[in-house]
Amino acid sequence: MGKNRQLRLGATIHGVGSSHTAWRHPQIPSDASVNISFYTQQAQKAEEGKFDFVFIADGLYINEKSIPHFLNRFEPITILSALGAATSRIGLVGTLSTSYSEPFTVARQFASIDQISGGRAGWNVVTSPLEGTALNFGGRPHPAHSERYRIAEEYLEVVKGLWDSWEDDAFVRDKESGVFFDPDKLHRLNHEGEFFSVQGPLNIARSRQGQPVVFQAGSSDSGRSLAAKTADAVFTGPETIEEAKAFYRDVKQRAAALGRAPEEILIFPGIGPIVGRTEEEAERKYQEIAGLVTIEKALEYLGRYFEHHDFSQYPLDEPFPDLGDFGSNSFRSTTDRIKRRAKEENLTLREIALQEATPRTVFIGTPEKVADVVQQWFEEEAADGFIIGSGVPGGLDDFVELVVPILRERGLFRTEYEGDTLRGNLGLPVPENRYTKQKALS
Ligand SMILES: Cc1cc2nc3c(=O)[nH]c(=O)nc-3n(C[C@H](O)[C@H](O)[C@H](O)COP(=O)(O)O)c2cc1C
Repeated sequence: MGKNRQLRLGATIHGVGSSHTAWRHPQIPSDASVNISFYTQQAQKAEEGKFDFVFIADGLYINEKSIPHFLNRFEPITILSALGAATSRIGLVGTLSTSYSEPFTVARQFASIDQISGGRAGWNVVTSPLEGTALNFGGRPHPAHSERYRIAEEYLEVVKGLWDSWEDDAFVRDKESGVFFDPDKLHRLNHEGEFFSVQGPLNIARSRQGQPVVFQAGSSDSGRSLAAKTADAVFTGPETIEEAKAFYRDVKQRAAALGRAPEEILIFPGIGPIVGRTEEEAERKYQEIAGLVTIEKALEYLGRYFEHHDFSQYPLDEPFPDLGDFGSNSFRSTTDRIKRRAKEENLTLREIALQEATPRTVFIGTPEKVADVVQQWFEEEAADGFIIGSGVPGGLDDFVELVVPILRERGLFRTEYEGDTLRGNLGLPVPENRYTKQKALS
């Protein structure tokens, strides 16, 4: 890897948090998931820290067992538009599902955010893990895991094709001659595939960064293949540095095997640092959040990865139940990991549920300690950057104010934005318009 490799940082803005119980913490605004001031303040804090991007996660199915944040939250494209107007440099990344949307609409939505923000948009491609999602979209059965990824692959082909509908200098806008656009620079996609039939062209042009940055968040074998083929960046949730390194190597190798430069696909483990000025303060913050978790809520949290499976039916202090294949059609990489750990470490249901709900990670401690771990993961090629979720109230503020200055002192993280687009800051190339490229070659 080149010595100019720079650490990248993103911040997940996730309202009242990723657990069933964090919202009860006295310092978390209980309406944070639908509080525009909270979202704006978080995005501005991340921009003050010179983060590469903010990220809005999403899903399309809830029930009474869903975590509170999922029950009542903003739709990503809408909130990103608002955050685009409240910030000027930071990237704006949001999740949208390829299993329950139309490529033409989604291409247009992200291209619009990209133009509105001056080239700061990114799309986190997910395939929607939960079967119940089908009940909200016309009742066709939920596609199986492998089919969801086949759909996603064709979907991305269509969206990227539509994004190139207009060559960069297609709009002449010459008032004198009355020429608004050059018809030679307008292209129809005419896509006819297994899942989609889309003529085009798209009714919006490319932004300054060419195309929105494509993120991908599935870690299963199919997820990794899709990432290697189509993504500029990948979110992943490893538990250890060894797991992270293996994932990093695997995805980069898959990309290289397809003729891509490994540094053009960036790997972002998602972490929830808990930073205290002393070890004791960090531990107190962890305990404040962990102490809110009851075993009932921990079982519900675990169930969310398994189609909201009712884990309360099993004895708590016996080995984790044998679920066979169950879970592999939803959050496959996560359910595989949970089953594997339970078996290898001989854990009970209670132990697994509590560990999942209140993970004690290596990213808990003093600013120096957290900076050390971040540096180690980055330098040992377990990560190109991190996506920071705040597991505790004020978590992002702590990271920006206490950890980022140390990373800067060590020359790992920027003091100023290098570019004025998301691609520019991430060090990713602007994809040339495919038709302009073809013309140049012919
Ligand atoms: C940082 C991060 C962010 C994620 N964001 C989302 C999201 O917004 N929506 C979603 O459905 N899944 C999200 N996921 C979960 C993955 O998409 C999940 O692994 C996937 O749904 C299952 O695909 P797989 O079977 O290929 O792992 C995220 C995962 C990580 C690590």
